[in-house]
Amino acid sequence: RRSRMMGIWRFKELLPLKTERPVTMGEGSTPLIRLEKLEKIIGVRRLYVKFEGANPTGSFKDRGMSLAITLAREVGSKAVVAASTGNTAASAAAYAARAGLKTFLLLPRGKVALGKLAQSIMHGAIIVEIEGNFDLALDTAKELAKRDEFYPLNSFNPWRLEGQKTLGFELFEDIGVPDHIFVPVGNAGNISAIWKGFKELKRWGYSDSLPKMNGIQAEGASPIASAFKAGLRAPLFTDSPETVATAIRIGKPVNWLKAWKAVTESGGTFESVTDSEILRAQRLLAREEGIAAEPAGAASVAGLIKLASQGYFNGDETVVAVVTGHGLKDPDSARFHPTMRLRAISMDDAIEKVMEVLEGRS
Ligand code: F0G
Repeated sequence: RRSRMMGIWRFKELLPLKTERPVTMGEGSTPLIRLEKLEKIIGVRRLYVKFEGANPTGSFKDRGMSLAITLAREVGSKAVVAASTGNTAASAAAYAARAGLKTFLLLPRGKVALGKLAQSIMHGAIIVEIEGNFDLALDTAKELAKRDEFYPLNSFNPWRLEGQKTLGFELFEDIGVPDHIFVPVGNAGNISAIWKGFKELKRWGYSDSLPKMNGIQAEGASPIASAFKAGLRAPLFTDSPETVATAIRIGKPVNWLKAWKAVTESGGTFESVTDSEILRAQRLLAREEGIAAEPAGAASVAGLIKLASQGYFNGDETVVAVVTGHGLKDPDSARFHPTMRLRAISMDDAIEKVMEVLEGRS
């Protein structure tokens, strides 16, 4: 009996790594969820969320990690290393545990969301806390990766992007080629990977069109979007990125050129959104559509709402927003945010109080 491949390995003919023994947990095959309420408000024909929170560790990182960890094992590495704002860390820790590899994670101290830190600890990774932001952690990871003992898992490793391009293949299976795709941008790997997926589908004769790629950054960490909007040809790197969306709190994106090409070649755009726009989009997804996004994951939706208000769409488009990480990753973003106050009723007169609230009497 021919065994059915799981996860991204369904597309193994379209992946550059041939293996019979992938390290996989069924990553990918995530739901494409139609947002019927929001699409009317925004004014497009169809609006979908590609919910990457449904991956085994709760973010899109699992797609590339499955491939990269498979390779790390095949080349005989003993240990893997990654700098991370949290999701790469959680994914690396889980997949490396499965492959029996030691994991070293370089994390910016105090700036990794609680759920991601808990995952990294749970899977037994060794954590190095860096006094400084992600960009500094990445420099350290690159240094370590020069030694033969360490296999690097950051997205300067092209195998990661090969895994992540399968998001494009799944969209194509589900709805063909959408008109627009919105992607939150941090280190700028994912938007490049999705674009690569669609370009390959066209080159190999599966499709005859391409989507417009739109990259969304947080305003306080928008080296690419701010330069793009100012008509420059290269990003404005910053040493002090700051945003509530800690996953994309990055000042010097390594893959900026690939992302820049994806956006310009496809005819899309870069946009930045404020923290309050991000949190509003997070709340809207949660309360109107039932989708829990971490703040960075909601940035794509915040971006398309902002662009829609500026007349970006003509009303006839099919639009996909990638929600890159699950809301459970960052419980503090809900617990401590003023717009998400706890609505509790005390046990005294509980029945009466519940009825009051239900009937709108209080
Ligand atoms: N959304 C989430 C939830 C992320 O964790 C990241 C990146 C991005 C978007 C941006 O993707 O870097 O490919 O442009 N997180 C990395 C990490 C940096 O370490 O987990 P990108």
